[in-house]
Amino acid sequence: MAVNRIMLLGANGQIGQALRAEPLPADWQLGVYGHAECDITNHRATQQTIRNFKPDLVVNAAAMTAVDQCEKEPDKAVAANFEAPANLAAQCSAIDVPLIHLSTDYVFDGDNGNVPYKPDAPMNPLGIYGNTKMMGEESVRHELAWHVILRVSSVFSAFGANILTKTLKMLDEKDELKFVNDQISSPTYAPDIAKTIIVMAEAILRGHSGGFGTFHLCGEPPCSRYDLVQAIMEAYAPHTTRRPSILPAATADFPGFAARPAYSVLDCSSLRAVYGIEQKPWREGLAEAMQKLKG
Ligand SMILES: NC(=O)c1ccc[n+]([C@@H]2O[C@H](COP(=O)([O-])OP(=O)(O)OC[C@H]3O[C@@H](n4cnc5c(N)ncnc54)[C@H](OP(=O)(O)O)[C@@H]3O)[C@@H](O)[C@H]2O)c1
Repeated sequence: MAVNRIMLLGANGQIGQALRAEPLPADWQLGVYGHAECDITNHRATQQTIRNFKPDLVVNAAAMTAVDQCEKEPDKAVAANFEAPANLAAQCSAIDVPLIHLSTDYVFDGDNGNVPYKPDAPMNPLGIYGNTKMMGEESVRHELAWHVILRVSSVFSAFGANILTKTLKMLDEKDELKFVNDQISSPTYAPDIAKTIIVMAEAILRGHSGGFGTFHLCGEPPCSRYDLVQAIMEAYAPHTTRRPSILPAATADFPGFAARPAYSVLDCSSLRAVYGIEQKPWREGLAEAMQKLKG
């Protein structure tokens, strides 16, 4: 059986961990590279690591994802989210290998009349994180024809630090919590992203030439942070005696945070049309993650 060598960058992030936890196709040999094994901002070392591994396909799940930290350290954000994907795409192009690159709903400004964004909608990010991710996307498109850019939103899972794991900690420690109810997006369960990456990679490796381009994946239905945290508390309730008050708040109640889109729901119809992948209810992912964490 011919082996497909898949190189995973950002392997210890939540999407990286989710991909590693999935059952992989029998012919895959997964090369797992965390930040320590491959710092994607070190272009020469990244080139060498790629050449040594000799991938058939590269998945880039590495990024600087802390939205507020990106405002404080813009140079680091530019290096990780823009210059590194540009280099990765150029390296993939040099050896004629496809790249699946992850991106975000924060490339949009949230001012779309409460209509879900299609993949070809104009980008207009509000902060450094979204700006650097947009520039990363554009460089990937420019450098490499054989790319997939998969935008996802509000990712949660049992892996690493994310809205679910951070909220559970707060529910344990605080008696009153406030979350915004005026920012709407669609939470996405990291294992659903991992499954989508596998389907995409398999199709591309089989020669599905229509599978390249920019796609959206998120769960459904759309909700606010406040709604999501209410659902987390409901799912957590059987496992705890704690009942902290969860209060709705407005974005304006949290000055000093990076600007975030008010409405960044992603239209996933092209993912369904091209890959046959349906959106999943995020509550199913939440139940599964809660079982893993507290069951
Ligand atoms: N999390 C979300 O809500 C969300 C929403 C929309 C889109 N996305 C996109 O999804 C992708 C993955 O996100 P995630 O949720 O898995 O984030 P994550 O948990 O923060 O994982 C990102 C990983 O990248 C690593 N990394 C950072 N800088 C690196 C560098 N210079 N070289 C190599 N690795 C580096 C991090 O390692 P260290 O921890 O050691 O720095 C971390 O393990 C990103 O493209 C992100 O923009 C995420």
